[in-house]
Amino acid sequence: MSTPNNFDFDNLWSEKSTNAERVIVNHAKYDFAIAYPPFEAVPMYGLIDGLKAKVDADLEKVSIEMAYYPHVQGDESLREFTANKLYGDRGIKTEKDSIVLCNGSGEANGLIIQALINPGDYVITEQYVYMGTTKQLAYYDANIVGSPMDEQGLIPDKLEDTILNIKDKHDVIPKMLYTIPEHQNPTGSTLPKSRRIEIINICHKYGIPILEDDCYIDNRFEGSPEPAFASLDNSGMVIYVGTFSKLIAPGLRMGYFTASPEVIDRALSVKPGSGPNQFTAYAIDGFLRSNLQTHKNTYDKILKDKKEAMEKGLLEAFSDTNAKWSSPQGGCYTWFEMTDGTNISEVRNEVFNRGVGYIAGDMFAPNGDGHNMARLCFAFEPVEKNYEGIIELASIFNDLNVI
Ligand SMILES: Cc1ncc(COP(=O)(O)O)c(C=O)c1O
Repeated sequence: MSTPNNFDFDNLWSEKSTNAERVIVNHAKYDFAIAYPPFEAVPMYGLIDGLKAKVDADLEKVSIEMAYYPHVQGDESLREFTANKLYGDRGIKTEKDSIVLCNGSGEANGLIIQALINPGDYVITEQYVYMGTTKQLAYYDANIVGSPMDEQGLIPDKLEDTILNIKDKHDVIPKMLYTIPEHQNPTGSTLPKSRRIEIINICHKYGIPILEDDCYIDNRFEGSPEPAFASLDNSGMVIYVGTFSKLIAPGLRMGYFTASPEVIDRALSVKPGSGPNQFTAYAIDGFLRSNLQTHKNTYDKILKDKKEAMEKGLLEAFSDTNAKWSSPQGGCYTWFEMTDGTNISEVRNEVFNRGVGYIAGDMFAPNGDGHNMARLCFAFEPVEKNYEGIIELASIFNDLNVI
């Protein structure tokens, strides 16, 4: 049936709605721009077996649950698993009733933003930060201020300066600190424990809650994790967000947050409808209860090999240039940086057309800095392409007189 498309909506749109750009993902031959995990590690049959195990264990129970709308906090068994995992992996004392499963951690971040942020409120983030969250903050008309970071993440003294600057200029205390402390997106940095403690003290001093986005915690392939903010503070100031997207697959759309009961109540008040997809929850729960460690071992090895292949390319092709890059012990990203004044942002499209995709640094900076920087995702392309693509990138940069 053809759509006539002649009804006039022009005077009817809400103030908040705009024309969305339908995202068409164009992949470069060597795609380092995306934020996907290795597709070869997605445990499709493991998930199907997990789902079947749950059905076989109690057909009547799951059928009844499926016939209802899910609990607003999501499947109870997966919440219990998540609470135990958070205690075991992150030392966070929580329980199933304090876990809210969401449609990805993106929804979890969005609920917290809606529960706390009024138009015009100030929110501090890292100097370079995941744009999915800054987009949500911008949608709720927050003023986003990036606080200086180095290769270890946020710098506590500078964070206090950022708070005081906002206070002096605007006579307000920022509403929230949003941080990705482990294998940060985009820089790959991990914040040491000592800095986390300093930041907690600073945030207490000014009464600023911390939204800790621990999205990449399950992707550590070397070294040991730093303690979560949420395990270092028991005042309820820290709201902790996690996801199954980076441990298993984003297509599942399953993330979560845990927070104090009062924060949960406020966040649920802005959540429309029921909890996330029950069918997916069964598959994740059934799969992870018997396969978490084996899956993680396979996955970590793949990520490590891929990171090393990209690093080999970087060492070979960029050692004699002024470029430097981070060497994260986990996550999906390497942060690539050239000397100040070099502009790898303006050549991005040309480099893409010639076969190599990356996201330039300014896309992650609330103040638009970072033209000399780029996020390179090592998680998606096969090992050989990670190496080849970087050699190709250097050759394109050479052609374009960037190096
Ligand atoms: C830091 C961070 N937080 C949240 C998300 C959203 O993930 P999801 O909604 O798939 O859990 C991403 C996705 O890349 C991310 O990098």
